[in-house]
Amino acid sequence: MITSPSYYDQIGGAPVVREVVERFYDRVLGDDDLKPYFTGIDMPRLKRHMVMLLCSVLGGPEPYEGRDLGEAHAGMGITSEHYDKVGEHLVAVLQGGGVGEDILRDVGLVLGKVKSSIVADPAETAD
Ligand code: HEM
Repeated sequence: MITSPSYYDQIGGAPVVREVVERFYDRVLGDDDLKPYFTGIDMPRLKRHMVMLLCSVLGGPEPYEGRDLGEAHAGMGITSEHYDKVGEHLVAVLQGGGVGEDILRDVGLVLGKVKSSIVADPAETAD
């Protein structure tokens, strides 16, 4: 039986994921709407966790050992619009890295699934 390589292998493994994550946070921090969320954040640690998360989502061997996404983003008041902007930056960087449509579609699905745990609950933030 012929098994196809994982998305992780198709795009070039951890070195490519690390490059994507660097370019992703360059874009996010260059976006005036998003930059304030990252004030005082330990960026090397955040990048390491994002690399692990992306590697494991793409089928690589690295397990994700960061915090649960809901927990990690709790209390930040992230809006739906800002979430979508972050998602667009990620997709743009992946597209720029020559990642195929099938992978982009799956990343889009994952982004849709985790949105509700990252975006602030309007009921909690209305005061
Ligand atoms: C689009 C989907 C997103 C994914 C997959 C994602 C992923 C992650 C990961 C893996 C971490 C590290 C968790 C840990 O500390 O172990 C993290 C932390 C963080 N994220 Fe996100 N994130 C997303 C969206 C966002 C958005 C929309 C914002 C703000 C606009 C944001 C801001 C932050 C900040 C500020 C931290 C650092 C938290 C801390 O160290 O206290 N993230 N994110």
